[in-house]
Formats: sequence, structure tokens, C-alpha cells
Amino acid sequence: SAAEVSNTPGNFEAVGTVSELESQGQILKENFQNGAISVTRNPENAELLYAVNPTCTHKGCLVDWNAGERKYLCPCHGSEYSPDGTLLKGPAEENLPPYLVKIEGEQVLVQA
Ligand code: FES
Repeated sequence: SAAEVSNTPGNFEAVGTVSELESQGQILKENFQNGAISVTRNPENAELLYAVNPTCTHKGCLVDWNAGERKYLCPCHGSEYSPDGTLLKGPAEENLPPYLVKIEGEQVLVQA
């Protein structure tokens, strides 16, 4: 039934390509489903991706991905998060929400 369908986890949706991720180090979409989405990859394992909502849990600024330090830095008050969204430094008190992410062919897909 329609009710059952709406209770199932969201479908995976393409947010970008593997080559985009490799050349830019990040896929950022600000208009994904109910919020922004950011995908980064583990440089030691190209198959290992992380997807989070990059909206700072402190006051809602969009956090910047710092590829050199491999963490998200909030430009507003300095909170920091690891690639999987784990809070490293406040004033934020909560992690960034993670999303399931996978590669299919050339496409990077995130579960909505
Ligand atoms: Fe990110 Fe305040 S909004 S630290």
C-alpha cells in the first residue's frame, strides 16, 4: 500500500559522478531532498565514501570541506567535524547527520 511504501527507506539518488569526486575531492549539493548533502572519499580507499548533511548543528551555517586537513570547518564559529560527520570541536554539540552512500558504475548515489 502507499502507507507501507512511504515508510520504507528512501531510494538512492545520484548526486554526482566518481570523476567529479576525484577531481574536486567533494560533491556538494545544496538542494538534495530536505537539505544539503556533501560526499567525500577516503584517499586510501577510493571505494570508501562518506556522505553527511553539511549544515552545522550549532546555528546552521554550511560547513566547508578542508581537503588538506580532511575535516569540515564551520566558517561561523569554528566547529569542526570529521568526514563521517563526527563532531571534533564545538561550540556545536551534535554530529552532522550521515547518509548511506554508494558507487554504481560512474554514479555516486546517496540514500534520500
Ligand atoms: Fe557552525 Fe556556529 S554555526 S559553529
